Amino acid sequence: RAPQDLAGCHVVVSAGGTREPIDPVRWIGNRSTGRQGLALAEAARARGARVTLVAANLEIAGAQAAADDVVSVESTAQLRDAVRAAGASADVVVMAAAVADFRPAAPSEAKIKKAPGRGPAPIELVENPDILAGLVRERLREGQVVVGFAAETGDASGSVLDHGRAKALRKGADLLAVNAVGAGRGFGTPDNEVWVLDAAGEQVAYATGSKRQVADALWDAVAKLRG
Ligand code: C5P
Repeated sequence: RAPQDLAGCHVVVSAGGTREPIDPVRWIGNRSTGRQGLALAEAARARGARVTLVAANLEIAGAQAAADDVVSVESTAQLRDAVRAAGASADVVVMAAAVADFRPAAPSEAKIKKAPGRGPAPIELVENPDILAGLVRERLREGQVVVGFAAETGDASGSVLDHGRAKALRKGADLLAVNAVGAGRGFGTPDNEVWVLDAAGEQVAYATGSKRQVADALWDAVAKLRG
C-alpha cells in the first residue's frame, strides 16, 4: 500500500497536449499522449488525494479510472479555464500537459480550401498565455504547491539539465520536472527520465523508470516540500 501522504489533499493534474484550431477540421498540436499525466493522477490517488484531471486530447485510455473528476478540454484557453476553476480549491497543481505556445490568431469558421494556382495561405500566430507562470504569480490558494514540467532536448547551447535549470529560474514553479524528449524518449514511451528542480534551479530528485515510478518520485518531492 502506498504511503497516504496526500490524504485530504485536492490535487489538480493537467495531462495531454493542447490543440489550437486552424479551421473546423485542422489544428496545431504536439506529441504529448497524456501518459505521464495519467500516471501522476493514478499515483496521487493511491496516496490518498482527491484528484481532478484536466485532460487535453489524451491518446490513451484510463482517464476516468485515474481520477475522481475528469474535465476534458481541447485548446489552451479551455485548459487554462479548467485548471484555474479546479485550482481554486487545490493544494497542489501539476501542469504536466504540453501546452501550445502559439495559436492561430483568427481560426477560420469554414474549412480552408485549396485554391488552384494559389500557394498556401500563411497562418498568423499569436502567443498563448503561460498558464504555469500565471499560477505562480497569482497563487489561487495560499500555500498551494505549483509544479511544472519541462520537455527539453540538449543542443549546442546546453544540455537538457542546463536548459531545465534556466527554465526553473524563469518560471519560478515550486518544482520543475525536467525531462529529456526526442528520438524515442519522453513522448508516448512507457518510461521517462526526470530531474526535479526547485525554484532556485537546485536538483531535489532524479528519477528514471516507468512513468508511474517517476510520478511517485515527484509526489515524494511534493510531500517533502509540504512538510
Ligand atoms: O516553457 P515550456 O513550455 O517548456 O514550459 C513547460 C511548462 O509550462 C509545462 O508545465 C507546461 O504545462 C507549462 N506551460 C503553460 N502554458 C504555456 C506553456 C507552457 O502552462 N503557454
